[in-house]
Amino acid sequence: MKRKILNIINSKNKKPLVCLTAYSKPIAKILDKHCDIVLVGDSLATAMYGMKNTHLVDIDTMIRHGISVRSNLTKALCVVDMPARSYKDITEAKKNAKLIFNKTKCDAVKIECNGKNYDIIKSLVDIGIPVMGHIGFTPQYFKKFKVQGISDKERSRLVEQAKKNQAAGVFSLVLECINHTTAKEITNSINIPTIGIGASAHCDGQILVTDDMLGLSGFYPKFVKKYVNLNNIIELGIKKYKKEVINRNFPKKKYIY
Ligand code: KIV
Repeated sequence: MKRKILNIINSKNKKPLVCLTAYSKPIAKILDKHCDIVLVGDSLATAMYGMKNTHLVDIDTMIRHGISVRSNLTKALCVVDMPARSYKDITEAKKNAKLIFNKTKCDAVKIECNGKNYDIIKSLVDIGIPVMGHIGFTPQYFKKFKVQGISDKERSRLVEQAKKNQAAGVFSLVLECINHTTAKEITNSINIPTIGIGASAHCDGQILVTDDMLGLSGFYPKFVKKYVNLNNIIELGIKKYKKEVINRNFPKKKYIY
């Protein structure tokens, strides 16, 4: 197993993992200085391309953004999402994971668990492609947002899914929108790090969609803390530019040839 992946596994119970998403060079360069893991998430479908959900983003788009991000990371582990329908059986999964892995040079791919696809995850791990798992609210398989793991039945189903992901060989597991006591139980039930998004501080690490936490996406469910409001900052700059253009104050001497 590669050292970078081992370091992530070994961080469990030692240090919280700092993880965020990136889709492009400028963000990747900043995240590389501060994050353990940078995810090229299929959330780019909604955050960047304005699609209704993540269901229609294709593999070429993931590869294009994966290359842009990976080639601007030097330290952080780069994970690229396998888009919906790209891993519907073992043959397709292997073909598409190899494409993503070889073209982007990422360190791992992420696969959303549908409660059945453990053999698919294992088939990728067996050919040397590290896999990050993803359980709870898995956007590729849901139409409507719903917090997961509230009832006892759901809790044991999710704990079982986490254990099965671990047995299939994932090196870490995203827990999305999972009730906090269930997230705690899952985290304590497995030896690999859990990475929470809307799943409480009991997880071994945290991830957010960068566009959300920077106030750029316009999508702010309860679990998103806006650390800065880039939307307002950008608009301020645009308004100043507009005013200067209209008043013929831009460009001044300094900016001409
Ligand atoms: O696509 C994505 O950005 C993700 C994160 C929300 C974990 O899967």
